[in-house]
Amino acid sequence: MRTLIKGGELINPAGGYHQIADLLMEDGKIVRIGHLPEEIQAADHVIDAAGLLVVPGLIDIHVHFREPGYPDKETIASGSLAAAAGGFTSVVCMPNTKPAIDTAETLTSVLEEGRKSAVVHVYSSAAITRGIQGEQLTDMEALFHAGAVTFTDDGRTVVDSSIIYEAFVTAARLGVPISSHCEDHRLVTAGAINRGEISRRLGDPGISPLGEELMIARDLLLAEETGARLHIQHVSTARGVQLIREAKRRGVHVTAEGAPHHFSITDEKVLEFGALAKVNPPLRTAQDVEAVASGLADGTLDVIATDHAPHTAAEKRLPLAQAPFGMVGLETCVGLTFTHLVHTGKLSVDAAVAKLTIEPAQIMSLPGGTLSEGANADVTLIDPNKEWVVEPEAFHSKSTNCPFAGMKLRGKAVATFVSGQCVYKEAR
Ligand code: NCD
Repeated sequence: MRTLIKGGELINPAGGYHQIADLLMEDGKIVRIGHLPEEIQAADHVIDAAGLLVVPGLIDIHVHFREPGYPDKETIASGSLAAAAGGFTSVVCMPNTKPAIDTAETLTSVLEEGRKSAVVHVYSSAAITRGIQGEQLTDMEALFHAGAVTFTDDGRTVVDSSIIYEAFVTAARLGVPISSHCEDHRLVTAGAINRGEISRRLGDPGISPLGEELMIARDLLLAEETGARLHIQHVSTARGVQLIREAKRRGVHVTAEGAPHHFSITDEKVLEFGALAKVNPPLRTAQDVEAVASGLADGTLDVIATDHAPHTAAEKRLPLAQAPFGMVGLETCVGLTFTHLVHTGKLSVDAAVAKLTIEPAQIMSLPGGTLSEGANADVTLIDPNKEWVVEPEAFHSKSTNCPFAGMKLRGKAVATFVSGQCVYKEAR
């Protein structure tokens, strides 16, 4: 089957390519890119992409698909539909499932379920410690050979320095990145939201930015000492961004991600949305939001990753202190990125696309992230000017925990192709 995407604005950051062009897909592969002569334009499907961006399929290296263990929140199948609707063709799952992804057997079952039921490519991380308890290392070597693309106890930090040091040494030997959720649990205790004016007003103990920054500093030193590749997840504080900036300058092998909620909204959203705006790390201040955006702009933060963290409506109806942390993010990522970074002039469209494609692919050594002849036809069409209003009830995710409900956004993924198959298409 031949599909022709005609006359779009083709952006391929990996090749420094940005121009109006056609893209021809056949049997799951990209066969031609460029101004195609009439005689090879014959195709079973022709998509008029005038006014649309044609970019490599987006890659999200931080999602929670909740299998095994919590299928009421999300399944690998439902999460993959949310990914496709958000323009993503590949995702990396986090291991805080039940059981945790801490054995080769569990990892293999997740990857198999991905191949069986997902409409996008599903990759997975594996836990650093058994049961994500921070006490005993997993068999990282076996997990690596079973397909783990990174190691993380996401949702928690391995606080014990002797254990995490061993993990870094093993990761360096295997050449696999450690993805670090940075939070010193001894300092961050009962808080639900950022420690500051809003937490004081609501009588919440607050989550100190220092808890995140201490662990960023520690892990940067561990990466420097062991030579391991470190990827810092969901950086939320201005000083956290600065620590990474300085470490990069002195040559530490570190990459980092910014999440859409951390570059677009502050902890004031808690006043409006309550527990729906409870996330870990928490929404911070306007100064932190600006710092995350600047970090993305100057390359301190390499990727945009959603930390898609679905929870049921019943759980999110609990009082702020008891409700779980997390918000869904796959279906709002492109809209938030264009509205808050691209259309504001903070980030060029090429840089935004790179941070959603080739950068995450390189960090996790994943295929994809680029458009080239002969490559797998993972392709996303984005309407950069489509105006829409966020309606969580319309999400493809099983969950609707989202503090962007009612927000007007400009920019949306409108079609997603995985290996040449259309897995999402929006009515135009
Ligand atoms: C994550 C989840 O729900 O799994 N939640 C979140 O707020 N990011 C785990 C976590 O990082 O706490």
